[in-house]
Amino acid sequence: MSSGKSPIQIPYFNALPKAVFVRGIAGGTLQQITTRLNILHMLKALGVFVYNDGKAIERTVDKAMTSFLLHQAGIATPRSWVCESRNLAHKVIADEVVQLQNKLVIKPLFGSQGQGVRMIDAQQPPLPKDTFVDGVFYLQQFIDSPHDYRVFVLNNQVVAAMRRTGEGWLHNVAQGAQCESINDADVLAIALEAAAALDIGYCGVDVIRDKEGKLWVLEVNSIPAWRGLQAISQVNIAQTLVDDFLSKIE
Ligand SMILES: Nc1ncnc2c1ncn2[C@@H]1O[C@H](COP(=O)(O)OP(=O)(O)O)[C@@H](O)[C@H]1O
Ligand SMILES: [Mg+2]
Repeated sequence: MSSGKSPIQIPYFNALPKAVFVRGIAGGTLQQITTRLNILHMLKALGVFVYNDGKAIERTVDKAMTSFLLHQAGIATPRSWVCESRNLAHKVIADEVVQLQNKLVIKPLFGSQGQGVRMIDAQQPPLPKDTFVDGVFYLQQFIDSPHDYRVFVLNNQVVAAMRRTGEGWLHNVAQGAQCESINDADVLAIALEAAAALDIGYCGVDVIRDKEGKLWVLEVNSIPAWRGLQAISQVNIAQTLVDDFLSKIE
């Protein structure tokens, strides 16, 4: 950080870029992830346009934070618990699963593409090893449905939406789900509400409908993939995003 030079030096760049398009925050140690996110914050502070904004990524990368913010905004999202204590997690399971006969899912807090998402029910062995969930137990009430929905939102408008149907209860495209285009007004509406609550430029909102027809927001993705959605959508999603990105730095 010598005088006269930009405080951030990027290899192969003579000057700071006008904008950065965040395509992933790779997993790593606490130090690595903190550094990666803070570099986004520093770039923004230096006047670089960051897409999605680092704060918006922080709000959504952590599933428990997303659950909290959705809940605070009054948007239906399944009841969720987060704790570091295995004993407390067992207590939630004893109360919810054993006594109330609810089903729960456990998810890696920073997970994606359905990896590590597991069902907890009375017959299952209690909980995965601490290392499997990086020491944080994030549990969520299970909503039984033969499919779920993914809605791609940009600037508070829906770009494309689909129903995803997996072989089991896990409906991620990366897990082999089939995709069909949808236009259900209530699904699009709750996804728009979720995106607005998280104050995010663009995102992929996961929504599920329970047996009574009620919709729930499962999670919001700030760095969504769109391979499955593109396969069933007329809109060129990558082009739409690039156009929006460029329009913001002109
Ligand atoms: N609470 C839940 N009830 C029912 N199904 C769920 C629940 N949470 C997740 N799922 C299923 O698992 C998939 C992956 O979970 P999600 O929370 O979206 O995490 P990921 O970041 O791995 O996509 C969802 O698309 C859905 O099919
Ligand atoms: Mg998801």
